[in-house]
Amino acid sequence: MSKILVTGGTGYIGSHTVVALQQAGYEVIIVDNLDNSSIGILDQITSVSGIKPEFHELDLGEEQLVKDFIAAHPEITGVIHFAAHKAVGESVSLPLKYYRNNFFSLLNLLTAFAGRDINFVFSSSCTVYGQPDVLPVTEDAPIKKAESPYGNTKQIAEEILTDIAKVNKNYHIISLRYFNPVGAHASALIGELPIGVPQNLVPFITQSAIGKRGAITVYGDDYNTADGSCVRDYIHVVDLAKAHLAALKYQEDGKMASDYEVFNVGTGTGSSVLQVIAAFEKSTGVKLDYKIGARRGGDIEQVWGDVTKVNSELNWKAELDLDEMMRSAWAWENYIKENPIK
Ligand code: NAD
Ligand code: WQD
Repeated sequence: MSKILVTGGTGYIGSHTVVALQQAGYEVIIVDNLDNSSIGILDQITSVSGIKPEFHELDLGEEQLVKDFIAAHPEITGVIHFAAHKAVGESVSLPLKYYRNNFFSLLNLLTAFAGRDINFVFSSSCTVYGQPDVLPVTEDAPIKKAESPYGNTKQIAEEILTDIAKVNKNYHIISLRYFNPVGAHASALIGELPIGVPQNLVPFITQSAIGKRGAITVYGDDYNTADGSCVRDYIHVVDLAKAHLAALKYQEDGKMASDYEVFNVGTGTGSSVLQVIAAFEKSTGVKLDYKIGARRGGDIEQVWGDVTKVNSELNWKAELDLDEMMRSAWAWENYIKENPIK
Protein backbone atom coordinates (compact mmCIF):
# COMPACT_ATOMS: atom_id res chain seq x y z
CA MET A 1 0.00 0.00 0.00
CA SER A 2 1.44 3.36 -0.95
CA LYS A 3 1.69 6.02 1.73
CA ILE A 4 1.79 9.80 1.83
CA LEU A 5 4.49 11.44 3.93
CA VAL A 6 3.26 14.58 5.66
CA THR A 7 6.13 16.64 7.07
CA GLY A 8 5.01 19.06 9.75
CA GLY A 9 1.87 16.93 10.08
CA THR A 10 1.22 17.82 13.72
CA GLY A 11 1.21 21.53 12.81
CA TYR A 12 -1.78 23.72 11.98
CA ILE A 13 -2.30 23.09 8.26
CA GLY A 14 -0.62 19.68 8.41
CA SER A 15 -3.04 18.25 11.00
CA HIS A 16 -6.08 19.29 8.95
CA THR A 17 -4.51 17.80 5.83
CA VAL A 18 -3.74 14.52 7.61
CA VAL A 19 -7.43 14.24 8.55
CA ALA A 20 -8.51 15.02 4.98
CA LEU A 21 -6.08 12.41 3.61
CA GLN A 22 -7.27 9.76 6.08
CA GLN A 23 -10.89 10.51 5.27
CA ALA A 24 -10.11 10.09 1.57
CA GLY A 25 -8.60 6.65 2.24
CA TYR A 26 -4.89 7.51 2.10
CA GLU A 27 -2.39 5.94 4.48
CA VAL A 28 -0.37 8.68 6.11
CA ILE A 29 3.01 8.91 7.78
CA ILE A 30 3.70 12.07 9.76
CA VAL A 31 7.18 13.31 10.53
CA ASP A 32 7.62 16.33 12.79
CA ASN A 33 10.24 17.45 15.29
CA LEU A 34 7.51 19.04 17.47
CA ASP A 35 9.35 22.35 17.34
CA ASN A 36 6.07 24.24 16.85
CA SER A 37 3.42 21.64 17.64
CA SER A 38 2.33 19.24 20.37
CA ILE A 39 2.40 15.48 20.43
CA GLY A 40 -1.16 15.64 21.83
CA ILE A 41 -2.37 16.60 18.35
CA LEU A 42 -2.00 12.95 17.35
CA ASP A 43 -4.83 11.98 19.72
CA GLN A 44 -6.88 14.88 18.44
CA ILE A 45 -6.40 13.71 14.84
CA THR A 46 -7.38 10.19 15.92
CA SER A 47 -10.55 11.52 17.57
CA VAL A 48 -11.59 13.29 14.37
CA SER A 49 -10.81 10.57 11.84
CA GLY A 50 -10.95 7.43 13.95
CA ILE A 51 -7.51 6.48 12.62
CA LYS A 52 -4.28 6.91 14.58
CA PRO A 53 -1.69 8.19 12.13
CA GLU A 54 1.80 6.69 11.97
CA PHE A 55 4.14 9.25 13.55
CA HIS A 56 7.91 9.61 13.69
CA GLU A 57 9.64 12.36 15.61
CA LEU A 58 12.34 13.48 13.19
CA ASP A 59 14.25 16.68 12.56
CA LEU A 60 14.38 17.11 8.79
CA GLY A 61 17.52 19.20 9.23
CA GLU A 62 19.46 16.01 10.03
CA GLU A 63 20.59 14.79 6.62
CA GLN A 64 21.64 11.24 7.51
CA LEU A 65 18.56 10.60 9.64
CA VAL A 66 16.34 11.79 6.82
CA LYS A 67 18.15 9.57 4.28
CA ASP A 68 17.85 6.53 6.55
CA PHE A 69 14.21 7.23 7.26
CA ILE A 70 13.24 7.63 3.60
CA ALA A 71 15.27 4.56 2.58
CA ALA A 72 13.41 2.55 5.21
CA HIS A 73 10.05 3.62 3.72
CA PRO A 74 9.91 2.55 0.07
CA GLU A 75 6.10 2.63 0.30
CA ILE A 76 6.07 6.46 0.29
CA THR A 77 4.85 7.67 -3.11
CA GLY A 78 3.86 11.23 -2.21
CA VAL A 79 5.13 13.96 0.07
CA ILE A 80 3.35 17.02 1.38
CA HIS A 81 6.06 19.22 2.80
CA PHE A 82 4.70 21.58 5.45
CA ALA A 83 7.63 21.53 7.88
CA ALA A 84 9.21 24.98 8.13
CA HIS A 85 9.58 27.90 10.48
CA LYS A 86 6.92 30.49 9.62
CA ALA A 87 7.09 33.55 11.90
CA VAL A 88 7.81 36.53 9.66
CA GLY A 89 8.97 38.86 12.47
CA GLU A 90 11.25 36.27 14.04
CA SER A 91 12.82 35.58 10.65
CA VAL A 92 13.95 39.20 10.48
CA SER A 93 15.76 38.95 13.82
CA LEU A 94 16.97 35.35 13.37
CA PRO A 95 17.53 34.95 9.62
CA LEU A 96 19.99 32.05 9.92
CA LYS A 97 17.49 30.01 11.92
CA TYR A 98 15.04 30.37 9.01
CA TYR A 99 17.48 29.82 6.17
CA ARG A 100 18.95 26.80 7.93
CA ASN A 101 15.71 25.07 8.85
CA ASN A 102 13.64 25.84 5.78
CA PHE A 103 16.38 25.05 3.25
CA PHE A 104 18.04 22.08 4.92
CA SER A 105 14.67 20.38 5.46
CA LEU A 106 13.78 20.79 1.81
CA LEU A 107 17.20 19.83 0.45
CA ASN A 108 17.52 16.81 2.72
CA LEU A 109 14.13 15.52 1.62
CA LEU A 110 14.83 16.03 -2.07
CA THR A 111 18.24 14.36 -1.70
CA ALA A 112 16.76 11.41 0.17
CA PHE A 113 14.13 10.78 -2.52
CA ALA A 114 16.57 11.09 -5.45
CA GLY A 115 15.97 8.32 -7.96
CA ARG A 116 12.46 7.57 -6.68
CA ASP A 117 9.26 8.43 -8.48
CA ILE A 118 7.66 10.96 -6.18
CA ASN A 119 4.73 13.37 -6.08
CA PHE A 120 5.81 16.40 -4.07
CA VAL A 121 3.55 19.19 -2.81
CA PHE A 122 5.26 22.23 -1.32
CA SER A 123 3.74 24.84 1.02
CA SER A 124 4.43 28.18 -0.58
CA SER A 125 2.81 31.49 0.19
CA CYS A 126 1.23 34.55 -1.39
CA THR A 127 4.04 36.39 0.38
CA VAL A 128 6.09 35.73 -2.81
CA TYR A 129 3.99 38.38 -4.59
CA GLY A 130 4.65 41.22 -2.13
CA GLN A 131 2.24 44.03 -3.08
CA PRO A 132 1.04 42.97 -6.53
CA ASP A 133 0.53 45.63 -9.21
CA VAL A 134 -2.59 43.91 -10.52
CA LEU A 135 -5.38 42.34 -8.43
CA PRO A 136 -6.48 39.63 -8.23
CA VAL A 137 -2.93 38.33 -8.51
CA THR A 138 -2.27 35.49 -10.95
CA GLU A 139 0.43 32.82 -10.70
CA ASP A 140 2.51 34.46 -13.44
CA ALA A 141 2.70 37.86 -11.66
CA PRO A 142 6.24 39.04 -11.05
CA ILE A 143 7.88 37.84 -7.84
CA LYS A 144 8.85 40.90 -5.79
CA LYS A 145 11.95 41.16 -3.62
CA ALA A 146 11.04 39.37 -0.39
CA GLU A 147 10.16 41.57 2.60
CA SER A 148 11.61 39.06 5.10
CA PRO A 149 14.01 36.11 5.31
CA TYR A 150 10.91 33.92 5.78
CA GLY A 151 9.44 35.18 2.49
CA ASN A 152 12.83 34.71 0.87
CA THR A 153 12.92 31.04 1.91
CA LYS A 154 9.64 30.51 0.02
CA GLN A 155 10.86 32.34 -3.10
CA ILE A 156 14.19 30.51 -3.21
CA ALA A 157 12.54 27.17 -2.40
CA GLU A 158 10.32 27.64 -5.44
CA GLU A 159 13.43 28.31 -7.55
CA ILE A 160 15.13 25.21 -6.16
CA LEU A 161 12.07 23.11 -6.98
CA THR A 162 11.88 24.55 -10.51
CA ASP A 163 15.53 23.66 -11.14
CA ILE A 164 15.22 20.16 -9.71
CA ALA A 165 12.05 19.33 -11.63
CA LYS A 166 13.80 20.29 -14.89
CA VAL A 167 16.48 17.65 -14.48
CA ASN A 168 14.80 15.01 -12.32
CA LYS A 169 11.87 13.72 -14.31
CA ASN A 170 10.90 11.37 -11.48
CA TYR A 171 9.80 14.34 -9.43
CA HIS A 172 6.32 15.75 -10.02
CA ILE A 173 6.28 18.96 -8.01
CA ILE A 174 3.48 21.38 -7.17
CA SER A 175 3.87 24.55 -5.13
CA LEU A 176 0.66 25.75 -3.54
CA ARG A 177 0.75 29.47 -2.77
CA TYR A 178 -1.56 29.78 0.21
CA PHE A 179 -3.25 33.08 0.94
CA ASN A 180 -4.24 33.56 4.61
CA PRO A 181 -5.25 30.26 6.25
CA VAL A 182 -7.64 30.68 9.20
CA GLY A 183 -10.34 28.75 11.06
CA ALA A 184 -10.41 25.25 12.46
CA HIS A 185 -11.95 21.84 11.87
CA ALA A 186 -15.75 21.70 12.28
CA SER A 187 -15.29 19.20 15.12
CA ALA A 188 -13.32 21.88 17.04
CA LEU A 189 -10.83 19.12 17.90
CA ILE A 190 -7.97 20.52 15.82
CA GLY A 191 -6.99 24.10 15.03
CA GLU A 192 -4.18 26.61 15.27
CA LEU A 193 -2.07 26.58 18.46
CA PRO A 194 0.02 29.75 18.40
CA ILE A 195 2.93 29.86 20.81
CA GLY A 196 3.09 33.15 22.73
CA VAL A 197 1.32 36.30 21.58
CA PRO A 198 -0.27 35.64 18.18
CA GLN A 199 1.06 37.85 15.40
CA ASN A 200 -1.72 36.86 13.03
CA LEU A 201 -5.11 38.53 13.05
CA VAL A 202 -7.58 35.69 13.64
CA PRO A 203 -5.82 33.97 16.57
CA PHE A 204 -5.40 37.39 18.16
CA ILE A 205 -9.13 38.05 17.73
CA THR A 206 -10.15 34.74 19.34
CA GLN A 207 -7.65 35.11 22.21
CA SER A 208 -8.82 38.67 22.82
CA ALA A 209 -12.47 37.58 22.77
CA ILE A 210 -11.84 34.82 25.31
CA GLY A 211 -9.96 37.19 27.61
CA LYS A 212 -6.41 35.88 27.10
CA ARG A 213 -5.32 39.16 25.46
CA GLY A 214 -6.35 42.78 25.67
CA ALA A 215 -7.94 44.87 22.94
CA ILE A 216 -7.17 44.17 19.30
CA THR A 217 -5.23 46.85 17.47
CA VAL A 218 -6.24 47.36 13.86
CA TYR A 219 -2.94 48.15 12.15
CA GLY A 220 -3.93 51.23 10.18
CA ASP A 221 -7.16 52.58 8.71
CA ASP A 222 -5.59 54.99 6.25
CA TYR A 223 -4.78 52.53 3.46
CA ASN A 224 -6.14 53.01 -0.02
CA THR A 225 -8.91 50.43 0.50
CA ALA A 226 -12.69 50.75 0.84
CA ASP A 227 -12.65 51.13 4.65
CA GLY A 228 -8.96 52.06 5.02
CA SER A 229 -7.84 48.78 6.63
CA CYS A 230 -5.69 46.16 4.87
CA VAL A 231 -7.27 43.51 2.68
CA ARG A 232 -6.38 39.79 2.52
CA ASP A 233 -7.76 36.62 0.95
CA TYR A 234 -8.66 34.53 4.03
CA ILE A 235 -9.01 30.82 3.29
CA HIS A 236 -10.59 28.23 5.59
CA VAL A 237 -7.95 25.70 6.67
CA VAL A 238 -10.29 22.79 5.88
CA ASP A 239 -10.67 24.01 2.30
CA LEU A 240 -6.90 24.50 2.13
CA ALA A 241 -6.35 20.93 3.37
CA LYS A 242 -8.56 19.64 0.54
CA ALA A 243 -6.49 21.59 -2.01
CA HIS A 244 -3.56 19.31 -1.12
CA LEU A 245 -5.65 16.26 -1.95
CA ALA A 246 -6.61 17.83 -5.26
CA ALA A 247 -2.93 18.48 -6.00
CA LEU A 248 -2.00 14.87 -5.19
CA LYS A 249 -4.81 13.52 -7.34
CA TYR A 250 -3.68 15.70 -10.26
CA GLN A 251 -0.19 14.29 -9.89
CA GLU A 252 -1.39 10.71 -9.47
CA ASP A 253 -3.61 11.01 -12.55
CA GLY A 254 -0.57 12.12 -14.57
CA LYS A 255 -2.17 15.45 -15.42
CA MET A 256 0.82 17.70 -14.79
CA ALA A 257 1.55 19.79 -17.85
CA SER A 258 5.17 20.16 -16.78
CA ASP A 259 7.11 18.67 -13.89
CA TYR A 260 6.73 21.83 -11.82
CA GLU A 261 3.48 23.74 -11.44
CA VAL A 262 2.27 26.53 -9.19
CA PHE A 263 -1.26 27.24 -7.96
CA ASN A 264 -2.79 30.03 -5.90
CA VAL A 265 -4.97 28.67 -3.10
CA GLY A 266 -7.45 31.23 -1.83
CA THR A 267 -11.10 32.16 -2.17
CA GLY A 268 -10.48 34.82 -4.79
CA THR A 269 -12.11 37.45 -2.56
CA GLY A 270 -10.49 40.06 -0.35
CA SER A 271 -11.72 40.99 3.14
CA SER A 272 -10.52 43.95 5.17
CA VAL A 273 -9.44 43.77 8.81
CA LEU A 274 -12.62 45.63 9.79
CA GLN A 275 -14.73 43.20 7.76
CA VAL A 276 -13.08 40.27 9.54
CA ILE A 277 -13.86 41.85 12.90
CA ALA A 278 -17.48 42.45 11.83
CA ALA A 279 -17.79 38.84 10.56
CA PHE A 280 -16.50 37.52 13.89
CA GLU A 281 -19.00 39.59 15.85
CA LYS A 282 -21.90 38.66 13.58
CA SER A 283 -21.20 34.94 13.36
CA THR A 284 -20.39 34.38 17.04
CA GLY A 285 -22.52 37.04 18.73
CA VAL A 286 -19.43 38.09 20.71
CA LYS A 287 -18.48 41.79 20.78
CA LEU A 288 -14.80 42.58 20.23
CA ASP A 289 -12.78 45.25 21.94
CA TYR A 290 -10.69 46.89 19.22
CA LYS A 291 -8.98 50.17 18.49
CA ILE A 292 -7.39 51.70 15.45
CA GLY A 293 -3.62 51.89 15.71
CA ALA A 294 -0.63 52.75 13.56
CA ARG A 295 0.31 50.77 10.47
CA ARG A 296 2.47 47.68 11.05
CA GLY A 297 5.85 47.88 9.30
CA GLY A 298 6.15 45.68 6.21
CA ASP A 299 2.40 45.11 5.78
CA ILE A 300 1.03 44.68 2.29
CA GLU A 301 -1.90 47.04 1.62
CA GLN A 302 -4.10 44.57 -0.20
CA VAL A 303 -3.84 41.18 -1.85
CA TRP A 304 -6.22 38.53 -3.04
CA GLY A 305 -5.72 35.70 -5.44
CA ASP A 306 -6.92 34.86 -8.92
CA VAL A 307 -8.03 31.27 -8.37
CA THR A 308 -9.07 30.45 -11.94
CA LYS A 309 -6.15 28.05 -12.43
CA VAL A 310 -6.67 26.03 -9.25
CA ASN A 311 -10.45 25.94 -9.85
CA SER A 312 -10.15 24.63 -13.38
CA GLU A 313 -7.01 22.47 -13.34
CA LEU A 314 -7.11 20.99 -9.85
CA ASN A 315 -10.91 21.01 -9.84
CA TRP A 316 -10.79 22.54 -6.35
CA LYS A 317 -12.80 25.47 -5.06
CA ALA A 318 -13.05 27.06 -1.63
CA GLU A 319 -16.46 26.29 -0.14
CA LEU A 320 -16.43 27.81 3.36
CA ASP A 321 -17.07 31.53 3.88
CA LEU A 322 -15.64 34.10 6.27
CA ASP A 323 -18.46 33.54 8.80
CA GLU A 324 -17.61 29.84 8.97
CA MET A 325 -13.91 30.66 9.34
CA MET A 326 -14.75 32.84 12.35
CA ARG A 327 -17.27 30.42 13.90
CA SER A 328 -14.85 27.50 13.72
CA ALA A 329 -11.89 29.53 15.04
CA TRP A 330 -14.05 30.61 17.99
CA ALA A 331 -15.28 27.06 18.72
CA TRP A 332 -11.65 25.87 18.74
CA GLU A 333 -10.56 28.68 21.08
CA ASN A 334 -13.32 27.63 23.49
CA TYR A 335 -12.40 23.96 23.16
CA ILE A 336 -8.74 24.49 24.05
CA LYS A 337 -9.68 26.67 27.00
CA GLU A 338 -11.45 23.66 28.52
CA ASN A 339 -9.13 21.01 27.07
CA PRO A 340 -5.56 22.33 26.89
CA ILE A 341 -3.46 20.24 24.52
CA LYS A 342 -0.19 18.86 25.88
P1 NAD B 1 3.04 25.11 11.86
O1 NAD B 1 4.22 25.73 12.55
O2 NAD B 1 1.79 24.95 12.62
O3 NAD B 1 3.47 23.67 11.30
C1 NAD B 1 4.76 23.40 10.83
C2 NAD B 1 5.23 22.12 11.49
O4 NAD B 1 6.55 21.81 11.01
C3 NAD B 1 5.33 22.22 13.01
O5 NAD B 1 4.60 21.16 13.59
C4 NAD B 1 6.82 22.12 13.31
O6 NAD B 1 7.08 21.47 14.54
C5 NAD B 1 7.32 21.33 12.12
N1 NAD B 1 8.72 21.53 11.77
C6 NAD B 1 9.38 22.72 11.60
N2 NAD B 1 10.67 22.49 11.31
C7 NAD B 1 10.83 21.13 11.27
C8 NAD B 1 11.95 20.29 11.03
N3 NAD B 1 13.16 20.77 10.78
N4 NAD B 1 11.75 18.94 11.06
C9 NAD B 1 10.53 18.42 11.34
N5 NAD B 1 9.45 19.18 11.59
C10 NAD B 1 9.60 20.52 11.56
O7 NAD B 1 2.79 25.94 10.51
P2 NAD B 1 1.56 25.93 9.51
O8 NAD B 1 0.81 27.18 9.69
O9 NAD B 1 0.84 24.64 9.57
O10 NAD B 1 2.33 26.06 8.14
C11 NAD B 1 2.68 24.93 7.37
C12 NAD B 1 3.44 25.38 6.14
O11 NAD B 1 2.66 26.28 5.38
C13 NAD B 1 4.76 26.10 6.44
O12 NAD B 1 5.70 25.73 5.45
C14 NAD B 1 4.38 27.56 6.27
O13 NAD B 1 5.50 28.34 5.91
C15 NAD B 1 3.39 27.47 5.14
N6 NAD B 1 2.44 28.60 5.09
C16 NAD B 1 1.73 28.90 6.22
C17 NAD B 1 0.86 29.99 6.20
C18 NAD B 1 0.10 30.39 7.43
O14 NAD B 1 -0.33 31.53 7.50
N7 NAD B 1 -0.10 29.51 8.40
C19 NAD B 1 0.70 30.72 5.02
C20 NAD B 1 1.43 30.36 3.89
C21 NAD B 1 2.31 29.29 3.94
C1 WQD C 1 -3.62 40.07 8.46
C2 WQD C 1 -4.09 41.52 8.51
C3 WQD C 1 -2.55 43.03 9.56
C4 WQD C 1 -2.88 41.41 13.60
C5 WQD C 1 1.34 36.89 7.43
C6 WQD C 1 2.65 36.63 6.76
C7 WQD C 1 2.48 35.86 5.51
C8 WQD C 1 1.60 34.65 5.74
C9 WQD C 1 0.45 34.84 6.60
C10 WQD C 1 2.92 32.66 5.55
C11 WQD C 1 -2.98 42.51 8.20
C12 WQD C 1 -3.84 42.94 10.33
C13 WQD C 1 -3.03 41.63 12.25
C14 WQD C 1 -3.39 42.38 14.51
C15 WQD C 1 -4.18 43.68 12.65
N1 WQD C 1 2.17 33.46 6.11
N2 WQD C 1 -3.66 42.74 11.77
N3 WQD C 1 -4.03 43.47 13.99
O1 WQD C 1 0.24 39.91 7.41
O2 WQD C 1 -1.32 38.89 5.72
O3 WQD C 1 0.52 37.58 6.53
O4 WQD C 1 0.75 35.63 7.73
O5 WQD C 1 3.42 32.52 4.52
O6 WQD C 1 3.73 35.53 5.03
O7 WQD C 1 3.25 37.87 6.46
O8 WQD C 1 -1.36 38.03 8.07
O9 WQD C 1 -2.75 37.60 10.05
O10 WQD C 1 -0.55 38.83 10.35
O11 WQD C 1 -2.45 39.96 9.23
O12 WQD C 1 -4.75 44.68 12.23
O13 WQD C 1 -3.26 42.25 15.75
O14 WQD C 1 -4.50 41.81 9.84
O15 WQD C 1 -2.07 44.35 9.52
O16 WQD C 1 -3.54 43.53 7.47
P1 WQD C 1 -0.46 38.72 6.92
P2 WQD C 1 -1.75 38.56 9.52
